[in-house]
Amino acid sequence: MNRRVSAYVSRGLAALLGGGLLLASFGLPVTGQPVATEVSSSETAAVKICSGCHTMQIVMDTPKDYDAWHDTVQAMINRGAQGTPDEFDLVMDFLFQDMTTVDVNHADLEALMTVLHASQATAEAIMARRAARPFKDLADLESTEPGLDRAVLDTKKRMIFFQ
Ligand code: HEC
Repeated sequence: MNRRVSAYVSRGLAALLGGGLLLASFGLPVTGQPVATEVSSSETAAVKICSGCHTMQIVMDTPKDYDAWHDTVQAMINRGAQGTPDEFDLVMDFLFQDMTTVDVNHADLEALMTVLHASQATAEAIMARRAARPFKDLADLESTEPGLDRAVLDTKKRMIFFQ
């Protein structure tokens, strides 16, 4: 079962949704490492759906964990945010890839790949290393994992934690 469906079911939101809109949108497989075209189309969907009532700044100002984004998007739908299930899926991809927090010492493989924009091999190397010795900080992560994109880590400093 993929992350979205399990998060969705475990939080019991099905009952709240009635129409099952998000069940459809969150039921698609997660692609793992993003490619450029997906990033831009997911960003386009987010701008289209999420900047109708407020600017995108409010979205970019508040990194959250994935479940919290799920709840926020549901709250926005309750307020009137409109889009197709596919568009909401793209919005969740955008939030996962660009605005989701990660605890490097505990996150699962998919979260490491998606949030850190890491290859599967690099994410697996992170998991192996932290099992032996947890990462101390970003400098530790950067020096241990040369496969990570420094520019990505730099823009995401405030979202990357070591607990
Ligand atoms: C129908 C209008 C509407 C749309 C469309 C909308 N929002 Fe909002 N949003 C609001 C309102 C009103 C508030 C302020 C109330 C509040 O703070 O919860 C808000 C506040 C927020 C906040 C700050 C409060 C929090 O919960 O962190 C975030 C983040 C946010 N929206 C994200 C989004 C995202 C992501 C989307 C696109 C899926 C979106 N919004 C689309 C109406 C909307």
